[in-house]
Amino acid sequence: MRIVLLGPPGAGKGTQASSLAIELGVPHVASGDLFRDAVRQGTALGLKAKHYMDRGELVPDDLTTAMVLERLEQPDAANGVILDGFPRTHAQATSLDRELHGIGQQIDLVLNLEVPDDVLISRLSGRWICRQCQRAYHEVFNPPTKPGVCDACGGDLYQREDDRRETAVRRLEVYERQTAPLIDYYRERSLLREVNGDQTVEEVRKALVDAVTQGSV
Ligand code: AP5
Repeated sequence: MRIVLLGPPGAGKGTQASSLAIELGVPHVASGDLFRDAVRQGTALGLKAKHYMDRGELVPDDLTTAMVLERLEQPDAANGVILDGFPRTHAQATSLDRELHGIGQQIDLVLNLEVPDDVLISRLSGRWICRQCQRAYHEVFNPPTKPGVCDACGGDLYQREDDRRETAVRRLEVYERQTAPLIDYYRERSLLREVNGDQTVEEVRKALVDAVTQGSV
């Protein structure tokens, strides 16, 4: 299955995509993680992307689409994928459709996580991420057993620069303007399922699994 996880910054896409990917036996491809890897490695793409990420703006479509489509060509994505954070604009969505259509594939399901803005801001401001495996924690809602240390791999936890309040607010504005219109794009194609993301991590996980089990809409 090829699934897109849609939702605003802090909705829980990364948290849910990683467990859903394990459950379905497909890779979790997160455009934000791909960009952060490129930044860490100091590649030309990483340097360009950092300029936009630090401001809470979207990286230009041509750079983003090329990076994600290249990742989707890897053999592990041949039989399915969970896309997290991509597509994020109308141009990215149409490029993805065109590319998949060209190889006889398509998006099967789009899961949209709905969470109120005030909850999103408190989730982002309390988020800690593992430097090694990228697992996300929250200092109040989803804390690690030992502060500062990843339960899964023992890696150090850090806070993202773009989770500072002003940048997080900017990311929510950018989401409303550039990404929220994709909800209608996928609804018109009868691919959308809405999921209440304002529940515990386990409740959201169950709701997503139910939506996937019911299959494409
Ligand atoms: P990206 O990394 O994709 O960030 P985002 O979409 O803003 O999403 P987040 O990672 O902030 O949130 P999430 O929904 O994954 O939430 P999480 O599970 O971590 O993008 C970063 C930047 O890269 C962009 O601003 C842009 O510059 C660039 N970029 C990326 N993709 C791009 C694209 N396609 N086009 C152009 N530019 C692109 O959870 C958040 C917190 O809440 C955690 O602390 C977690 O523990 C907690 N939490 C999760 N679920 C729950 C729950 N149910 N209850 C309580 N707490 C919860």
